Order: sequence, then C-alpha cells, then structure tokens
Amino acid sequence: MIDARGPAEHGIVSLWWLMLVLACAVFLLVCVMIAGGLIRSRHLSPDEPLPEASWGGPFIAIVGVAITGPILVFVFVLSLRVLRADAASTPKSALSVHVTGHDWWWQARYPNGAQTANEIHIPTGQRVRIVLDTVDVIHSFWVPQLGPKTDLIPGKRNSMWIEAASPGRYRGQCAEFCGFQHAHMIFYVIADRPGAFRTWERNEARPLMQPTSAIAKRGEQIFLSTTCAQCHAIRGTPADATVGPDLTHLAGRRTIAAGTLQNDPGDLSDWIRDPQAEKQGALMPSAPLSQTDIDAVVAFLEGLH
Ligand code: CUA
Repeated sequence: MIDARGPAEHGIVSLWWLMLVLACAVFLLVCVMIAGGLIRSRHLSPDEPLPEASWGGPFIAIVGVAITGPILVFVFVLSLRVLRADAASTPKSALSVHVTGHDWWWQARYPNGAQTANEIHIPTGQRVRIVLDTVDVIHSFWVPQLGPKTDLIPGKRNSMWIEAASPGRYRGQCAEFCGFQHAHMIFYVIADRPGAFRTWERNEARPLMQPTSAIAKRGEQIFLSTTCAQCHAIRGTPADATVGPDLTHLAGRRTIAAGTLQNDPGDLSDWIRDPQAEKQGALMPSAPLSQTDIDAVVAFLEGLH
C-alpha cells in the first residue's frame, strides 16, 4: 500500500509514514523509560524497601495525557482531513462502476450493460467512481495501491473513486471479515489504456460467443439444462440468474472463484466437480455431472471470450 500507483493513494501514503514515525517515537520513549527503570532497580538489594516515587504520579499523568492525547488527536484530525479531501474529489460525471459484494466474490456492472466478476477493468489516467453495495454482510473494497478502503454496508450505498496512473493489474482484497472465505475474497483492478478499455467494455457488453465445436455445443446444452443455469447468467441464453457470477465472457478472466484458482481447463474442471474442496463454505454446490459432461461444460465456458 505504500507503493502508490494513483492520486487517491498519495494522501494515504503520507499519512501512513507520519503515523509510522510517530509510533516509532512513542515506542522508543517507552523503551527508554523501561530501560531507565531496570537500570535504577539494579542498585537496590532485595530486602531494601522501594524508594518513595514522589514524582511518579505527575510523571505518568504528563506522559500519559499531555503527550499521548495530543498525538492521538493530531493523527485523528489529519486522518479525517485526508479522507474528506478524498471524498470531496469524488467525480460526479466520470465512468461509474457498480460493485456489489457477495459471500465471497465481487460483481461489477458497467453503464453500458457490461458485467463481470472479480476482475474490474478501468481506463488509466482518469478517476473512476466506484459505487458499492452488498447483498449479504459487510465487506470492504480495498485496492491498496489505488486508494483507501471503503465498506460495503447492507442497506446503504457508498461511493468512492480510484485512479491508476499507468496500465497494470492491481490486487484488491476484501478488508472486512465477512465469513469463512473472507481471505479468498480477492479481486483485481485491471487498468488498460483508454482505447483498450473501450474495446474491452464494448466486447464485455455483447452477448455470448456462439459455440462452434461439437463438444462446446454439448457443454452449452448441459449448462442450460442442469443446476449451472439456476445460479449463473450467460447473456444471450435463457440463463439469467444472479446468485453467482455472470459468465458471459468468463474466458477473458485470468482467475476464477474470486482469485482463488487459475482460469484454465484443469482448475475450472476441479472447481465445477467439487467447489467445496477448493473453497470450503462457498455457496456453489458440486455439479452432479460425469467427468465427460464436466469436460464439455469446461470446453463451452473456456470458449466464452
Ligand atoms: Cu468480504 Cu471479507
């Protein structure tokens, strides 16, 4: 997080260094006082009564209140200023990505109808408004290199902004404990140059690529006639459920299961066969399919560019 890659993060990094310096100064002061006490006590014999510390009370009051109090108030006020400056600069008319938290994955929707999961594309060099809500518990959206954390709170809509100065893939993480697989609620912000981003966004809004191979066509039939279609949407087919991620362009993602597995035929096959072995507690049930059928579904899904 101290390797800032966008303007929203610069204020946070300065604040972080200042807090580190203050914390180190306080820590050193405490170490010096402990060392002083230990050195003084070495001159006492065990049966000698402890000397009367006539100044001990006022000393503790001075150090405990007169030093600690102002430091905490100072840091608090400074944090509020950084956060308020950040909130005040939220753009009104910028690209707005609607991000919804689910146990344990991220849904991202774009104004043109594009929808994806766990890999949020943004254009470089501009502020992107992120609108946040949740369908279940409290989550927290955090891309350490691009901006501060913002919570996703049930019944409330929060908004914040991020900006990436240069193209790249920035790791994000749910930063509020939300259940068993909180640690595996990973996402990536992928910053593309504006032209590449527009191409991605246009493609992402299109309905599915019709399968061409026989095995992929069979995979589509299996997908639509079994449990898969009860939770997932593939635009351009009757599958339009919103319990799990939209899979219309699944093949364009690098990872599946919110950053837990690679998006390759092997991992996807393992995931469909037994999600609980890969991510215990995930809401996705095992598919009651033979390995031949799973292979067909994988061939279909890995063709969805
Ligand atoms: Cu979502 Cu932790």
